[in-house]
Amino acid sequence: MTDHNIINKYNATNIIVPNSMLDWMRSNHAGETGAVWIYMGAKCIFWNKNIQNMTKEHYKTEKNHLIVMSHILPKIYHSKLLILWRILGFGLGFFSALFGYRFFCVTIQSVETFVEEHYQEQIDFLYKNSTSFELLKVLEKCCDEEVEHQIDAKLHKGNDKNNSFERFWSNLIGSGSSFAVNISKQY
Ligand SMILES: [Fe+2]
Ligand SMILES: [Fe+2]
Repeated sequence: MTDHNIINKYNATNIIVPNSMLDWMRSNHAGETGAVWIYMGAKCIFWNKNIQNMTKEHYKTEKNHLIVMSHILPKIYHSKLLILWRILGFGLGFFSALFGYRFFCVTIQSVETFVEEHYQEQIDFLYKNSTSFELLKVLEKCCDEEVEHQIDAKLHKGNDKNNSFERFWSNLIGSGSSFAVNISKQY
């Protein structure tokens, strides 16, 4: 699919970002950049077939999200720290995959749980203020796909409840992501 087709598929052709959403959209664009790079990092762990299978699917979707966000948000509003989001994303994907499939699934589940809340907050805001129905629809579609990733990771993680280190790691990802969002809203 060409970029043009992808943008059409998400109904994101003619969206003007309202001023009240610019900072949020900057963080969305930064976040989708990080997401693409998480899977680029995970791809390096080529010997783990399970990780490769999950990565192949998720990577495609995250790439679509990034194309859509790049299209909607004018370049002058992009984060100045894209290099940093790429490095952090790559590192997170690479190292969590290095620790094996389960740990990778725990990581993806935590990341996507954060992302779901992040998008949902914006969807609620747009809904309450009836600001841009078109943008709301795009964010809703992206959010649904993040939830699919989250469920996929949870399913493949296996039945065991998270142990204390995995719980610690999930919390760390939650607070790290929220810190990154605050930074990328501004820079
Ligand atoms: Fe995404
Ligand atoms: Fe995602």
